[in-house]
Formats: sequence, structure tokens, C-alpha cells
Amino acid sequence: MYRVGIITASDKGSRGERIDESGQKIKDIVSQFGYEVSYYKVLPDDKETLSNEMKKLCDENLVDIILTTGGTGFSKRDNTPEATLEIAEKLVPGISEAVRNYSMQFTKKAMLSRAVSVIRKETLIINMPGSPKAVKESMECIMPALNHGLDILKGTASECARK
Ligand code: MTE
Repeated sequence: MYRVGIITASDKGSRGERIDESGQKIKDIVSQFGYEVSYYKVLPDDKETLSNEMKKLCDENLVDIILTTGGTGFSKRDNTPEATLEIAEKLVPGISEAVRNYSMQFTKKAMLSRAVSVIRKETLIINMPGSPKAVKESMECIMPALNHGLDILKGTASECARK
């Protein structure tokens, strides 16, 4: 069972001024797929705060995957992709490309998300936009391939089945 860390990037949420529906949505979906939520936090949109927290989760091997929500747009306080790239060791562009491509059927504004996906040590990090709707749509796209990616990252599957 893979361990999931959920980080919601939200200034208002971190001050308790907004209920974090998106983080809850991630919890619900990953639980349905049999993953264990072992870390959950609402953090302010500071680049340093976000990258330090993600770095700790990766370097101390506390989770196998970090799913972030929020802070991927164009506003001054949208810093999640930069915080993620700051600690990246490998880039996984295909995941975020696929999510944006899949999401275009729901809204053309999907192209405005600057979300990235990366690997640090044995942890995969995937950014998602901030709304519960965007989280649901993004995860519909991600979940079918996620387990296989984690199996390879963790070394429990060395080859892809070829037919
Ligand atoms: N992706 C999906 N699947 N569904 C959405 O509703 N909203 C878009 C985009 N990606 C959206 C989406 C909008 S309106 C914006 S501004 C960007 O994500 C960035 O969102 P964020 O700033 O909340 O991260």
C-alpha cells in the first residue's frame, strides 16, 4: 500500500479562513484506490515553506507520493510549481502534460495551470490546480497509470509487461 502525502497550498486555508475541500477530495479518491494517507497539511503559498516541507517528506522517506493542490496559476502568490522544481531531481513532464490535455475537454482554462510533476529520491510529486473540480478531473487522468509508475520508482516492478 503506497503512502500519500497531501499538501494544499492556500494562504487563506492555512489561516483557517477557508475549508480545504480540495485536500479532502484527494483524500477520498486515493482512499478509494487503496492508498494510505500518511501526511496532510494546508500550507501558505510561500515557495520556501512549500519546498522545505516537500523536501523533508522525500528525504526522510515519509511518503511515496506527494499530491499538491493549489498555487499553479498566474497570480503573484502561485508558487507551487517553482517550489516543486526547486527540489526536483528528475522531471516527469508526461504526467502534467497528460493532465492538461485530458482537462481541456472540461475547460479551456486547463491550459493556464503551470503544474509540474517530478521525482526526488523515491518520492513522486504531482501538482494539481486548486479547485475540488480540477482535483477530481486531474485524478481521473492520473490514477490509471499511477500504481505502475510507483512500482517502477520503488523497484518492485522492473519491467513493463509487453504485449
Ligand atoms: N484543470 C481542470 N481539470 N479543471 C479546472 O477546472 N481550472 C483551471 C486550471 N486547470 C481547471 C484546471 C484554472 S481556471 C486555473 S486558473 C488553473 O488551473 C490554475 O489553478 P490554481 O491557481 O488553482 O492552481
